Amino acid sequence: MAEATANIGVIGLATMGSNLARNLAHHGNTVALFNRHYSRTEKLMNEHGTEGNFVPAETLEEFAASLKRPRTAIIMVKAGAPTDATIAQLEEVFEPGDIIVDGGNSFFKDTIKREKEVRAKGFHFVGCGVSGGEEGALNGPSLMPGGTAESWKTLGPILQSIAAKVNGEPCVTHIGTDGAGHFVKMVHNGIEYADMQVIGEAYDILRRGLGMDAEEIGDVFAEWNKGDLDSYLIEITAEILHHKDAETGKPFVDVVVDHAGMKGTGTWTVQTGLECGSPVAAIGEAVFARALSSHGELREDAQKEGLAGPNKTIDLAGEDKAAFVEDVRKALFASKVVAYAQGLNEIQDGAKEYGWDINLSEVARIWRGGCIIRAQFLLDRITEAFRGDNPPASLLFDPYFEKIIGESQDAWRRVIVRAVEAGIPTPVFSSSLAYYDGLRSKRLPTALTQSQRDFFGAHTYGRVDKPGVFHTLWAEEGKPEIEA
Ligand code: 6PG
Repeated sequence: MAEATANIGVIGLATMGSNLARNLAHHGNTVALFNRHYSRTEKLMNEHGTEGNFVPAETLEEFAASLKRPRTAIIMVKAGAPTDATIAQLEEVFEPGDIIVDGGNSFFKDTIKREKEVRAKGFHFVGCGVSGGEEGALNGPSLMPGGTAESWKTLGPILQSIAAKVNGEPCVTHIGTDGAGHFVKMVHNGIEYADMQVIGEAYDILRRGLGMDAEEIGDVFAEWNKGDLDSYLIEITAEILHHKDAETGKPFVDVVVDHAGMKGTGTWTVQTGLECGSPVAAIGEAVFARALSSHGELREDAQKEGLAGPNKTIDLAGEDKAAFVEDVRKALFASKVVAYAQGLNEIQDGAKEYGWDINLSEVARIWRGGCIIRAQFLLDRITEAFRGDNPPASLLFDPYFEKIIGESQDAWRRVIVRAVEAGIPTPVFSSSLAYYDGLRSKRLPTALTQSQRDFFGAHTYGRVDKPGVFHTLWAEEGKPEIEA
């Protein structure tokens, strides 16, 4: 049997797993390796075995024996049944007190369930969100671990060693117990969907609306990346728009089929929002926009039908083009901030529902680097906004964001109006503005909704002028009101 020399193990050596294992080794960890098919382990050893201290294992027994106590293993296999199977196998070879970490994109409710079951057997179970894709796994991801505070004592320093660093601070924190880490990762992905969609909407307005070419729009995004929109997603968008297809010489974006895929984390964010009563409308619109795009046949039928539309581009009516492009930037920024505000509120609602103590300032801090939505300037501001004992109820109430959105709202409206007139869909721009206006409105038409509910279903209503619950006898003469 192997000597126990490894302080961490990785199970599942596909690209994410092997990159994470290499990252761990690069930072002085001794890493036990296991993969269901040993050929993958051999491949990693052949290609990268000299990069650090690895202990390859052919069996899980060997893997367990090579780990120092408490044994700590990160599972990097597919979410769902493969994760359950791996946990069950690990339980066979691990001992109470050992730590099992799930680094996949698992649904937080599965993590809550698994944590309970695994803990009952005496092990620690940590669901850990890992963001940053393959590159992040290798060079520094943003990490969102849940689980017990005790497991964090062992795991924390290991995760700190491999996480992305911003101003020397590792992009990892103990998010909360059981499924809190995967919950926050889920919301991260929901925000990622909205962020990608608002970029797409801005692109569409500039491309179809103003007739700019991909290259020129790439320049605009590169410029935007120098200001408060500075982010990984804007940066890669500029790069993509500048890229030409090798085969045809056309802009790369023009040869890609416009059906957006999704693996489910955005949908979970919206489903969970609905369950918690959290209005994550911007994220929802981003998910639906992908769904609509992928309804290929329906869209082809719509083309055949020739559904009527304005059939014109954006008419600037003498307005300066550069000024309108700046309006689009402001609309993008404002919509993005609303998506963040909704996502962060969902984290608060989830924390209440599931009993977690989640520090939003810390969440924003660890999203500054490593992850897909990283945006140092914006997330520095959000970190600040939620610091201290008296955080705002919404990101939109933080003085910095309140001011900047207040100053952007005219531009935001102008852009949406122009897009609507030109028949260009802007689901997240529009939905975010509707959320903002809904929040601002002193009176909402939901008074009428309540009246209708009372009319057809005796669902009762409250009055603005006195306490109590009331019902109107709508069918009776004079429609008398009674206290319900
Ligand atoms: C990350 C990404 C990562 C992955 C998503 C994409 O944080 O590194 O979010 O988790 O790219 O699974 O999801 P879709 O396939 O649903 O776009």
